[in-house]
Amino acid sequence: MTATLAAHRGEILHFLDDPGAPGRDAADAWRYFPDGALVVEDGIVAACGDAAETLAKFPAARVAEHRDCLLVPGLIDAHIHFPQVDIIAAYGAQLLDWLQRHTYPAEARFAEPAHAAAAAEVFLDELLRNGTTTALVFGSVHPQSVDALFAAAHARNLRLLAGKTMMDRNAPDAVRDTAESSYQDSAKLLAKWHRKGRLGYAVTPRFAPTSSERQLQLAGRLLAENPGVHLQTHIAENARECAWVAELFPHCRDYLDVYDRHGLLGRRAVLAHGIHLNAREWARLAEADANLAFCPTSNLFMGSGLFDLRCADEHHARVGLGSDVGGGDSFSLLRVINEAYKVEQLQGRNLPPLRALYLATLGGARALDLQDVIGNFAPGKEADFIALNYRATPLITRRLAGCRDLEEKLFALLMLGDDRAVDGVWVMGERWGG
Ligand code: GUN
Ligand code: ZN
Repeated sequence: MTATLAAHRGEILHFLDDPGAPGRDAADAWRYFPDGALVVEDGIVAACGDAAETLAKFPAARVAEHRDCLLVPGLIDAHIHFPQVDIIAAYGAQLLDWLQRHTYPAEARFAEPAHAAAAAEVFLDELLRNGTTTALVFGSVHPQSVDALFAAAHARNLRLLAGKTMMDRNAPDAVRDTAESSYQDSAKLLAKWHRKGRLGYAVTPRFAPTSSERQLQLAGRLLAENPGVHLQTHIAENARECAWVAELFPHCRDYLDVYDRHGLLGRRAVLAHGIHLNAREWARLAEADANLAFCPTSNLFMGSGLFDLRCADEHHARVGLGSDVGGGDSFSLLRVINEAYKVEQLQGRNLPPLRALYLATLGGARALDLQDVIGNFAPGKEADFIALNYRATPLITRRLAGCRDLEEKLFALLMLGDDRAVDGVWVMGERWGG
């Protein structure tokens, strides 16, 4: 078979490191080519650089021109729920009431394979339409929902991590498993899908209140028995939730300790929210090398609180951005960045645009321990990328006309943009939907 060689010419921006990390020389952390070329060979990045120089090295490449666009790596959503697509933007409740009133009834419907299969297509279309090419995803409690999601993602050749939610108490019958069945079902899914194509499995206890000690212990066993799988859960999102965890686990030092005691922390653990962590938990989280998903759209929509990104930085904790749909009210990581900026403002700080885009690309890849395969345009990476349109709407066109440099343009685009700003999406070099 002959190799396919394609070059994408246009304005290009990607990151080699965190431009916001304390003590770094920011200019080192990113690469910007006003007239750049991204060369893709058989779905893999072959080169990325200044157009004239790069194209001269690949005279056989078919060249696609991208005018009025910024090419950036595909966006990475570090926390989202597949079976909540139908209750996004549900009115009037904070976390614990929202789960009972809206979420569990919607998730119960995912016992039906046809419903799950249809929803999986809608969910993945929505991710891609918004420029999200990789996500760490909660399924429902039913293994058939995760089967449907993995099958649909595999057919699209997406790099996706997902798992069956484990929840054996404090929830209605229709969305409850048992400790033993959750272990068996997770193990079967893992054997079937982990490392199949670009897929990976994530052991997924919902959160401490809906798992017995036995279930958490078995989640820890799954991780110990299967090195390389991920762990995803929620932590310290809402004040009532935290008080409930203290009641349910009186022998644990704090919320993080519930997970720690069961061997759930580590390099591939991604904990969503972390708004109400104490000093010990921050220190331990960093020591355990675990990751956080910062979900500002959700945290504001659900009235949960303000994530402390500076504290995460001070502890050198890795952070990715999560839409947390359906607690979050948008699939768009541009909307997530917009609200992350406001969460920082409310704490007397700013979120520079380059740092924001880093968090949604290489930062997300690092938080998911996928930095060796995705997140930027280093040669050898999988070529997932998107084109952001500088002329997406009349207002964006007008606002950007007054900008003097990349950072000003990027900031306005990130603040004003959403799915309308995503002009094209490529998955391993193949254009999605085109
Ligand atoms: N905590 C436990 N379950 C959930 C959920 O589905 N969404 C959010 N945002 N928090 C949770
Ligand atoms: Zn969540």
